Amino acid sequence: MAKLKIVKFGDETLRKVCRPVDEITPKITRLLDDMIETMRAANGCGLAAPQVGVLRRIAVIEVEEGVVYELINPKIIAYSGEQKETEGCLSNPGKWGITKRPAAVTVRALNRYGKEYELNGKDLLARAICHECDHLDGKLYTDVQIKSVEED
Ligand code: NI
Repeated sequence: MAKLKIVKFGDETLRKVCRPVDEITPKITRLLDDMIETMRAANGCGLAAPQVGVLRRIAVIEVEEGVVYELINPKIIAYSGEQKETEGCLSNPGKWGITKRPAAVTVRALNRYGKEYELNGKDLLARAICHECDHLDGKLYTDVQIKSVEED
C-alpha cells in the first residue's frame, strides 16, 4: 500500500465529473487500498478518488473506526429529513463549514468484488456519503455550506 498525495481546493481536478468504473481491475483494488491508507493517515472519515487525482467514481468512508465502506459507482437512491452540521474536507485542511444535508440516505454501490450493495446511513455517515458522492460530480462542501466556521 502507499500513501497518496491529496489534491487541495483550488485544483481543477476537484471540479471534474468522474467516469464510472466499468471493470474492477487489480489497479482499482490497489487504488482502494491506497485511498484507505491515505484517509487514515490524514485522520479523515472519507476520501474520493478525485482527491488523489484519479477521475473515477470511487470513494472510501470510515466514520466508525474499523468499519470501512468502499463505494464504486455509488448512487444515492433515497434520502429523508435534514441536518445542519459541521463538515470539512481533507482537500481543505483546517477549515470547516455548516452544511445542510439529508438526515438519512441510502446509497447503492459496488464493492471491490463487483457485488452491488446498499448502505443506509444517518447523521455523520449520511453526511459522509453525500460529501463523497458530491466529489465524484466535482462538487465541494463549500458549494452547499450555509456558513463557514472559524477556529477560535
Ligand atoms: Ni472532501
